[in-house]
Amino acid sequence: MSNNNIAILGMFFGDESKAKFTHHFAKENPKDVVCIRPSGGSNAGHTIYENGKKIVRRLVPSANFRLGNKAFLGSSMVLNIDTLLQEIIKVEEHCPGSASNIYIDPDAFLVTAEHIAEDIEKNKHIGSTGKGISPAYRDKINRKGVRLKSILNTDPSVRKMMDMGVNFKHAAELYKMFDQSRLIFEGSQAILLDISFGTYPYVTSGETGLSGIINSGFARYMPSKVYGVSKAYSTRVGNGPYPTEILDEKLASQIREKGQEYGSVTKRPRRVGWLDLPATKYAADKAGVTDLILTKLDVLDELDNIPICTSYENGIPVCGSDFEHAIPNYKMVPGWYHANSKDMSRNYHLVKTIEYETKIKVSHLSCGVSEEDIIKC
Ligand code: IMP
Repeated sequence: MSNNNIAILGMFFGDESKAKFTHHFAKENPKDVVCIRPSGGSNAGHTIYENGKKIVRRLVPSANFRLGNKAFLGSSMVLNIDTLLQEIIKVEEHCPGSASNIYIDPDAFLVTAEHIAEDIEKNKHIGSTGKGISPAYRDKINRKGVRLKSILNTDPSVRKMMDMGVNFKHAAELYKMFDQSRLIFEGSQAILLDISFGTYPYVTSGETGLSGIINSGFARYMPSKVYGVSKAYSTRVGNGPYPTEILDEKLASQIREKGQEYGSVTKRPRRVGWLDLPATKYAADKAGVTDLILTKLDVLDELDNIPICTSYENGIPVCGSDFEHAIPNYKMVPGWYHANSKDMSRNYHLVKTIEYETKIKVSHLSCGVSEEDIIKC
């Protein structure tokens, strides 16, 4: 059993382009790769591009089925079966035969119509996506949840998935396969939205870090590399503390438009802010991040100087509630003066400031939507 396993986690509030990197890393020896979504549900919107076509996945991991990747949906997920069926139908249309490379753990819990109705009615103040995630996890913890396994032989949508070739297997039944594979764990949302470490109560209800991986039955496969993905700026959808939010609406909307910062699930405009290094360090410590990936540098092409928060007036954040009243101190870092953001000699200041302040190396940059815009540092 080799350990080339990696995890790809969001650092702040989601939408950092985790999927793009899952898809990217999955191209290396693709037939050996299993992409795993350990937790979360259809509140996620993971965007990938294949042959120029934009694909948004909610539940199915960002595997590259064309190249022969497998995908596994873990038992810490909460599944809306109808959404899942529609998504698998799309995967099949796009790449026939892929369904037989999809594995789903029957111990995952279900999201019901009642969960969704309750979420929409009661969780507006959090800015919930309304996909039933919080009520589904509440029922799980309350020991009232319904597992996928209880409808395996009766549900028509599950039957359709089986007919398409989808496999329903517990993680432990697949250890032999996992032993011979390279596992790519694709986190959902991000560390500052984690139920334990995030800006509670303005969080999602799943586990967005390593605990989601452990609780899906993968403790024996812990990743040797944990990539923390962050934009060169930051965004947040929904409510809750956001120390580096840009309050100048004109500037925020310029970045929002350039970065197309609209929710991939709800289409809501995202709040926009600067890169926050105390938050980066906090999230990296909580999630055991070994390498940072910095995305969407091209969105900042027009800025002569880029503000980066390097500390908080009120000290180093040690828990999720420390973000509530944090007052950011900024350092201005020279931009690349309209040169290509891919030019390493130009984005040097930004990268070096991040590495100096966080003591974590930046391993990759992404300077555009396409995979050709990824640079290995
Ligand atoms: P819920 O998990 O749908 O209840 O949403 C809780 C909070 O997490 C809200 O602020 C959502 O906007 C946010 N959230 C949930 N999923 C995502 C995601 O995939 N990306 C970004 N934010 C998310």
